[in-house]
Amino acid sequence: MYRIDIMTLFDLTVGDVLSESILGRAQERRYIKIETHQIRDYTLNKQKQVDDYPYGGGRGAVMQADPLYQCWKHICEVSGSERPHTIYLSPCGRTFTQKEAVRLARDYDHLVLVCGHYEGIDQRFIDAYVDEELSLGDFVLTGGEIPAMAVTDAVCRMVPGVLPDPECYEDESHFNGLLEYPQYSRPEVWQGMRVPEALLTGDHKSVEKWRRKEALLRTKERRPDMFAAYRSQGKLDEEVFAQLEREERMAALKEPLVCRRAVADDLPAVMDIIGQAVERLGKAHIDQWQGGYPGEETIGADIARGDGYVLTYEGKCAAFFVLSDRPEPCYDALTDGKWHGVGPYGVIHRCAVAEAFLGLGVSDAMLAEGEKLARGAGLGWMRVDTHRKNKAMQSLLRRNGYEYRGNVLVSPPEGHDPRRLAFEKEIISEK
Ligand SMILES: C[S@@+](CC[C@H](N)C(=O)[O-])C[C@H]1O[C@@H](n2cnc3c(N)ncnc32)[C@H](O)[C@@H]1O
Repeated sequence: MYRIDIMTLFDLTVGDVLSESILGRAQERRYIKIETHQIRDYTLNKQKQVDDYPYGGGRGAVMQADPLYQCWKHICEVSGSERPHTIYLSPCGRTFTQKEAVRLARDYDHLVLVCGHYEGIDQRFIDAYVDEELSLGDFVLTGGEIPAMAVTDAVCRMVPGVLPDPECYEDESHFNGLLEYPQYSRPEVWQGMRVPEALLTGDHKSVEKWRRKEALLRTKERRPDMFAAYRSQGKLDEEVFAQLEREERMAALKEPLVCRRAVADDLPAVMDIIGQAVERLGKAHIDQWQGGYPGEETIGADIARGDGYVLTYEGKCAAFFVLSDRPEPCYDALTDGKWHGVGPYGVIHRCAVAEAFLGLGVSDAMLAEGEKLARGAGLGWMRVDTHRKNKAMQSLLRRNGYEYRGNVLVSPPEGHDPRRLAFEKEIISEK
């Protein structure tokens, strides 16, 4: 059982506060024991005076060493500890943080907390019996009771058994160097304000991602010091950091991107974009699109059929993609896997981003627009294939929720690799 003894001039008040709610129940269940001690009970004078004038003069009074010592000695005797870890709550101490609370909960099973009053306590008691001094923050209170209660509460809630499980406190502000994400409860709409959509999906992974993103954004805005010190703690953080970076870059675009059906006049600009993508793939030693495909004829036919779309920025073509709702014959059979979707699906083909718009999140916007169009057309699934060496496309698909299903075989020009990785994503249809 974790034990905390508090030396104070207000033992009844402090005891009452710490017997409420979670800490009260934890004491009843004997996970923790909190005892408060009236320092005045350890004075030898009739007036129960515990303070006197400060040596050297000046205002106020100082708590004398002996009543403090007698009280502390009594705690040692009744608890059976020879030298319990003793903390003086003082504005001159190290600032108390969650890290300190974790340390105190982990490294000790008995603490003595000393609450000062007036001008403080005689230094000789501190020198002889105090192991450390902790401050609640850079301000001065009239007494150490509030800091002692704060330390007791923060430490005790991490004692095993006090909260249902460690996740209750590990997921909270400060434990991992971040502030917590915003919380919502019922009803779904209150005073016209809706609970964020991401929390209503029921998809654990996307809820977790939304929460981490909000926690990072909140920390960055409110506590730049904590944000600067924070280091990625794994895959989830890396994904969210990358997403934030993309969004930040996209925010650099002063106007929103516009998605519209491509028209014949767009063909030269679109062929420029395709040409730039062909060059990039070639430089990366990816043999996709290296045999003259897709040429003007193919793209012209996409546009004429009404399947070609452009994303424009300030009237300039930033990206091109094809969205088709016709079944793709080479998707009929995956060589080594299985599609999950049933029913009509949309396919994104021949997508490329203009060189000048790389790194601005345009490719993510392109996928989102394609999905929006497909959803509007009543399609329930998206399918996309890409070259196995085209890692940029694979990571674009994965971070946008596409899942790898297996290989398909396409018909590239003689001597080129026909295998393509096939990805799929369920989209909720609007029809
Ligand atoms: C008025 S204060 C004494 C302040 C002291 N003369 C000084 O200037 O540092 C009286 C008592 O309140 C408690 N106290 C006040 N501010 C505190 C803080 N920020 N953190 C922890 N304890 C505090 C200490 O126990 C202290 O002895």
